[in-house]
Amino acid sequence: MKISKIYIFLIGITLSFALIIPISAQNRFDVGDDKYTPSMGQSGKDVIWIPTGNDLVSSMLKIAEVTPKDLVYDLGAGDGKIAIAAAKEFGANAIGIEFNPDMAALAQRNANRAGVGNKVKIINGDIFVEDFSKATVVTLYLLPHLNIKLRPIILNMKPGTRIASHAFNMGDWEPDKEIDSSMARGYFWVVPAKVEGNWALTGIEPQSKVVLNLAQRYQKIGGVLTIGNTSQSILNAQISGDKLSFGYIDRNQQFHTAIVKVNGSELIGHNKGENSDNEIVGKRF
Ligand SMILES: C[S@@+](CC[C@H](N)C(=O)[O-])C[C@H]1O[C@@H](n2cnc3c(N)ncnc32)[C@H](O)[C@@H]1O
Repeated sequence: MKISKIYIFLIGITLSFALIIPISAQNRFDVGDDKYTPSMGQSGKDVIWIPTGNDLVSSMLKIAEVTPKDLVYDLGAGDGKIAIAAAKEFGANAIGIEFNPDMAALAQRNANRAGVGNKVKIINGDIFVEDFSKATVVTLYLLPHLNIKLRPIILNMKPGTRIASHAFNMGDWEPDKEIDSSMARGYFWVVPAKVEGNWALTGIEPQSKVVLNLAQRYQKIGGVLTIGNTSQSILNAQISGDKLSFGYIDRNQQFHTAIVKVNGSELIGHNKGENSDNEIVGKRF
C-alpha cells in the first residue's frame, strides 16, 4: 500500500514536470527572436532573469493606477514585458533599465514588434548607476537586499511616486497594499513626503501661535499640535504622497480635520470644522 502511494506520487511529479517544462520552453521562445533567445533563470549582474507572469504585470500596473500621463521605469527590465505592458495596456511612456546588452536589445526589439517602440525605451545600464528620478511609477522584480539598497534612492523620489515590486518587500518600510495574483505576490508603496519636524501654522486659530510637531517613520506619522499654551496629540494622522491630513479638537470641543498638500518646507490646504472651512498654511522651521 505504502509503495503504491509512493509510486502515484512519483507519477504525479513526473507529470507536473512534463507539463511545466513545455510551458517554460514556450515562454522562452515567445520572448526571444532569431538574434537572441534568453533562458529562464540565466544569470544577470545582481539577479537572474525570470519574467513576471502576465497576471501580476497587469495587477502591478493597475494597483499603481498607471495612465498615459505616467513615466514607468522597470528596474532590471528583462525581456521588456513590464515596460511594454505599461505602454500597450495603459498608454504610459516606459523606460526599462537592463544590464545584459543582449537582453536590452531584445527588449527594445520586443517593444518595437509590439507596436510601442515610440513609447518604450530600453536602456542598457545598471539600475544602481542610471538616474530614474523622473519616474512617476517604478516596478521591480529583484531580490530583498537589492530592494533595501534601492530604498533610500526611492524614498528621495518625488512624493507620490508609486512603487510596485514583484515578490519582495522593502524591509521595515511596510507596503501600503499587497498584490495577490494567481501564482505570485507583489507589494505596493507610495513615496511619502518628508514631513518630520516643526511647522508654524496659520489658519488654525487666528489669535494664537500654532505649532505642529510631526514624527515620521516612512508613511507612519503622528505628532503634537500646540495652540497657544495648550498641546494635544493630533488624531488620525495620515500621509499619502504629498497629502497630509490630521484631526484636532479646538478649545470649543469642535473636531477639525486639516487636509494639506506638502511642498518641501511649505504646506497649504484646508482646515474643516463642523461649521467652518479655512485655508491653512504652514512653514517648516
Ligand atoms: C527577475 S528579472 C525581472 C525582469 C522583468 N523586470 C520582469 O519582471 O519580467 C531581473 C532582471 O534584472 C537584470 N539585472 C540584474 N542586475 C541588474 C542591474 N544591476 N542593472 C540592471 N539590470 C539588472 C537581469 O539581467 C534580469 O533581466
